[in-house]
Amino acid sequence: MPLVSGLDVINDCTSRGLVAGAFNTTNIETTMGIIAAVERTNVPTFIQVAPTNVALSGYEYIYDMVSRRLADTNVPVALHLDHGKTLESVEGALAAEFTSIMIDASEEPYEENLRISQIARELTPGSLALEAELGSIGGKEDDHGPEQELSTNPSQVADFVGAVRPDMLAVSVGNVHGFAPDARIDFDLLAQVRDASAVPLVIHGGSGLPVEQLGRLSEFNVVKVNVASDLRNAMIKTFGEAYVANPNEVSLIRVSKDAVAAITDVVERRIHMLNPRIS
Ligand code: 13P
Repeated sequence: MPLVSGLDVINDCTSRGLVAGAFNTTNIETTMGIIAAVERTNVPTFIQVAPTNVALSGYEYIYDMVSRRLADTNVPVALHLDHGKTLESVEGALAAEFTSIMIDASEEPYEENLRISQIARELTPGSLALEAELGSIGGKEDDHGPEQELSTNPSQVADFVGAVRPDMLAVSVGNVHGFAPDARIDFDLLAQVRDASAVPLVIHGGSGLPVEQLGRLSEFNVVKVNVASDLRNAMIKTFGEAYVANPNEVSLIRVSKDAVAAITDVVERRIHMLNPRIS
């Protein structure tokens, strides 16, 4: 099945009361691991890369890898640009036929965030999904993080969403990027933001949040939850353990297949945590 638009994932999830995982890929093993888990659960999903991934492989490479693997399946997956910090990154991902885009100008002052996000809206065809961010999420993603963590201000939400017209809004409500075992969603704040937003919400920093919090997010009109660190660590751990077990290990295929299985396991468990009602 070809890649679907991010709008299809959003619409399918909202109509079925599901929350889509958005899993960051880096390489072929991560991609295969994610898609195997999506095949098992059949929950619509985003696969995503941030522009920082371009240091390893460009948008076209990621598009080819993901769409080639998806050709063998029937699962609805959108390819999403995570944390597009510049309009150039938005243009790069669109040129590579990504089907969902995030503009993240959240570190700019409010008016500038609004202005840049509006331009991203103009660049992004209406048939594709656009995510914008209001408030600045703390922690680090690919070694980058904001100078200052800033919670989403509910009184700015209606104005921002009305002016930018994104299809989903990333919010900062206690969620933190990276392994952050103490991160907790402030559900009172999340409820205020939900009530003010005309579009569904996105929670970044899915790796650090406790299971019981992940399972409640659908009640708050959250449609997408980003998960990266958990998958990356599963892969690194598999290779690390293989080396420790045998410093002369040379079966890269066997260890790579173990890494795919470890990633599938992490992704499948996350999809179930986000959607406790699916079997
Ligand atoms: P984690 O690394 O905490 O899962 O966050 C990922 C993320 O939010 C990507 O945008």
